[in-house]
Amino acid sequence: MKLAARMTATGAYLPERVLTNAELERLVDTSDDWIVERTGIRERRIAGVDESSSTLGTEAALRALASAGVSGEEIDLVIAATCTPDGMFPAVATRIQHAIGAVRATSFDVNAACTGFLSALMTGAQFIQTGSSRRALIVGTETMSRIVDWTDRGTCVLFGDGAGAVLLEPSAPGEPGAIESMVLVSDGSQADSLYATGPCAVGDPLGASDVVGAAGAARAPRIVMDGRAVFRTAVQEMTNACQQALAAARIGVEQVKLCVPHQANERILSAVARNLGLPMERMFVNLDRYGNTSSATIPVALTEANEAGLLQPGDRVLLTAIGGGVTWGAAVVEWAQVPAPVAADAALAAAAH
Ligand code: ACO
Repeated sequence: MKLAARMTATGAYLPERVLTNAELERLVDTSDDWIVERTGIRERRIAGVDESSSTLGTEAALRALASAGVSGEEIDLVIAATCTPDGMFPAVATRIQHAIGAVRATSFDVNAACTGFLSALMTGAQFIQTGSSRRALIVGTETMSRIVDWTDRGTCVLFGDGAGAVLLEPSAPGEPGAIESMVLVSDGSQADSLYATGPCAVGDPLGASDVVGAAGAARAPRIVMDGRAVFRTAVQEMTNACQQALAAARIGVEQVKLCVPHQANERILSAVARNLGLPMERMFVNLDRYGNTSSATIPVALTEANEAGLLQPGDRVLLTAIGGGVTWGAAVVEWAQVPAPVAADAALAAAAH
């Protein structure tokens, strides 16, 4: 069944600060060779001291709006996918809603770790499908650098910061552009293989030792991962989800113009491509420059694929992700007439009018 929602604009924002593998060699016992060979990552971006998931997401949202020629007032729904919110509340989406002048919009966050963008996209598509929303902004935005344990070489080399956004509008009769199928799966039994600690962990909040002692330390945000276990699950379940999404859209892998996957590890992407029978040239990869930006990877990659002119109206795009939880999913999207992304200055000038 075709969901009556299509992507009509994309936008991305990456913080300026580049953190190279060479710099990481000075922080932990690692090497550029190891990181490139085991992950494909060469550098990542790190948010500045004045930046947060809401400010990165605002930049990406403004760029998507400017490229569509749509004002904030015309947006009626903002969903932010993030696992690194500025604070426990308000939602990052609500801060973005205010910053882009979306005065008529409702807003909320979705957290499914690195699968968050797909979950938010699916949620937004349903609002469009039921007619509850005419223009929905779906933003994936993360400051993973704020929850990375910079002493753990097994995880700190993997992550980066960034944001991407897509605009969703109802499909237009006779015109290409639709979300054709969507698969979302969770297996909470694997939660211990990939999680982040946080401020609301179990413990007695009134006990002094909980505030400053062991439980207090447990509440400091920090990513914990069993890399090998996640690697195996990622390859197996991203493959399964892609096959299910293709079957639901009634197309074969040969009809996929481009797969735009969550960017965690190039070896995972090669294995998934091999399993699907998809040539690696049709797998979009930009993790060498940004690392794993969690919920932001897919909308950033979609923006770059659009910018590079890799997608034409009517092309089939396969999206897939895996994240903490463990969660995973895939979607088949028929590409619409999507304008080229705009640069920051143009986005800000457009927003000011
Ligand atoms: N530099 C040098 N050596 C390292 C580093 C490093 N940065 N990290 C680990 N090693 C060492 C290990 O200590 C180990 O040494 P040992 O053999 O002496 O014990 C050796 O390298 C091999 O370690 P493995 O963990 O087996 O390495 P692997 O090849 O599996 O690569 C990696 C590790 C890159 C983490 C990989 O397992 C992976 O990508 N896993 C999936 C991660 C992922 O997809 N996360 C998804 C979502 S994230 C989210 O949802 C927030």
